Amino acid sequence: MPTIVFASPKGGAGKSTSAVLLATELALNGATVTIIDADPNRPVSRWGRLPGKPDNLAVRDDVSEKTIVRTIEEESTRAAFVIVDLEGTASRMIPYAMSRADLVVIPTRGSTLDAVEAVSAIREVRQQEEAFRIQIPAVILFTCTSAAIKPRTLAAIETEFKANGVPVLKTRLHDRDAYRAIFSFGGTAAALDPKNVRNIDAAVKNAQEFAQEIVALLRANRSGAAA
Ligand SMILES: Nc1ncnc2c1ncn2[C@@H]1O[C@H](COP(=O)(O)OP(=O)(O)OP(=O)(O)O)[C@@H](O)[C@H]1O
Ligand SMILES: [Mg+2]
Repeated sequence: MPTIVFASPKGGAGKSTSAVLLATELALNGATVTIIDADPNRPVSRWGRLPGKPDNLAVRDDVSEKTIVRTIEEESTRAAFVIVDLEGTASRMIPYAMSRADLVVIPTRGSTLDAVEAVSAIREVRQQEEAFRIQIPAVILFTCTSAAIKPRTLAAIETEFKANGVPVLKTRLHDRDAYRAIFSFGGTAAALDPKNVRNIDAAVKNAQEFAQEIVALLRANRSGAAA
């Protein structure tokens, strides 16, 4: 079943946060999900050991560059969705994971400096496409954006990506307390305690929209590939 890989050479771009949000939304909708935590710092595994992880969501961190492809293939026979969280620095797991991706999501914050790094992630995807002679759909995800305003810099970067044929997700993951809080308290954004965290409803809605757009994109890519 589809494999979605979160990649970006930029540290702190929002890979692990977005990967966990997608995984929990899919799991809450009833799908079986495996997240492969391919970051040696193991941020997703730490989240997974906290209380509240949905039972139909598994986290695996027993991966190395030698085993990542096998692990992705194994999990994709078992789970409806496989999600891979990669580390921010160069690693041979990046091309291996990309070679098995149905979709590469490249999270980026909305500054020009961050966008430059996102472009290098896109370039890496293109290199893997050439190396493996396959097509690897990739898409930019803006993270940590303001829910209230869309700054001109962000709009300009988005236009630039589109002009260069780089798809950008319509949904942006806004800067939300709830997205930080799940890594402290565990579980899903929806299950957070409103006494501890502000604006949970808006955060949940945003994460749902994100997951829906990813599922729609996977579906469109699949029917495009079959045509
Ligand atoms: N949408 C968001 N709203 C609020 N905080 C966010 C959001 N996205 C990321 N963060 C915060 O930004 C920091 C970096 O995010 P995260 O760890 O997800 O990035 P990363 O790309 O996985 O980093 P690394 O390259 O180190 O693996 C964390 O403190 C996280 O809580
Ligand atoms: Mg990370």
